Amino acid sequence: MSPKPLILNLFEMNCVGHITHGLWRLPGNNRHRYTDLTYWTELARIAESGGFTAIFLADVVGAYDTYGGSAETALQEGLQIPNNDPMLVVPAMAAVTERLGFGITFSTSYEPPFAFARRMSTLDHLTRGRVGWNIVTSYLPNAARNFGLAEEIEHDHRYEIADEYLEVLYKLWEGSWEEDAVLRDAEAGIYADPAKVHRIDHVGENFSVAGPHLSEPSPQRTPTLILATASRRAPCAPGAMPSSSSPTARCSSARSRPCAPRPRRRAVIPRIRSSWSRPR
Ligand SMILES: Cc1cc2nc3c(=O)[nH]c(=O)nc-3n(C[C@H](O)[C@H](O)[C@H](O)COP(=O)(O)O)c2cc1C
Repeated sequence: MSPKPLILNLFEMNCVGHITHGLWRLPGNNRHRYTDLTYWTELARIAESGGFTAIFLADVVGAYDTYGGSAETALQEGLQIPNNDPMLVVPAMAAVTERLGFGITFSTSYEPPFAFARRMSTLDHLTRGRVGWNIVTSYLPNAARNFGLAEEIEHDHRYEIADEYLEVLYKLWEGSWEEDAVLRDAEAGIYADPAKVHRIDHVGENFSVAGPHLSEPSPQRTPTLILATASRRAPCAPGAMPSSSSPTARCSSARSRPCAPRPRRRAVIPRIRSSWSRPR
């Protein structure tokens, strides 16, 4: 049996203080440079040359304001606030690397799926198929209030929404554009064959999306899927199954449809490799 390859993944966040609280106070540290593009391009180069498989960016869309009933402590100590959008630093990192993968975190609870589908397809194009999505349903009451909700959506309901969210995304990423829809026939003046680009006409409990998907097929279509959960309830990501015990990040390059029933549990690491380390 050949030895298992060692996978190194850098756990990061586009902010001054991720989980190593107070690191920004250490003399000579670089954390305050998270607002500078060169921080990210340097980091990507170092990670790739050091043999890392991927950089994974966590994210939250609200402030931690439970302690003491306000965000004062989080703000004072730089605890995941201020924090910037994880997606926007990916193209810069991709431009200075060849093999490194990028996992970004995005929540299924607040922003509808259509625009997110296009942003992920764009990233998949720009990275030449090196992007992954960490599917989260989120947990911050303040995040809910930032998106017009009175309070956080109840746990299992968040996952019901996530199921439909993924259903819409699969339809857009996998079902809207046929493989040979793009002709790029300059002589005939036909960029895409309209007969091979389909509306999805999704009408569900939470979302209505007509389509077609706005992006032409990207290298992966569906990005590598990463699932951060501590419970058995997980959205419908074929190949990404919940762990029964510890919090685990799991990955899948989902291509099989439809969503149910879920496939048997698969190993995480080979799935990451097959998507992010494919030969070019
Ligand atoms: C390892 C791990 C990492 C997570 N990272 C994020 C994150 O970056 N952003 C976020 O909004 N939620 C994150 N979550 C929260 C989950 O999306 C989820 O809302 C929370 O864990 C509660 O659901 P669960 O019972 O499925 O674990 C993370 C959860 C785990 C276990």
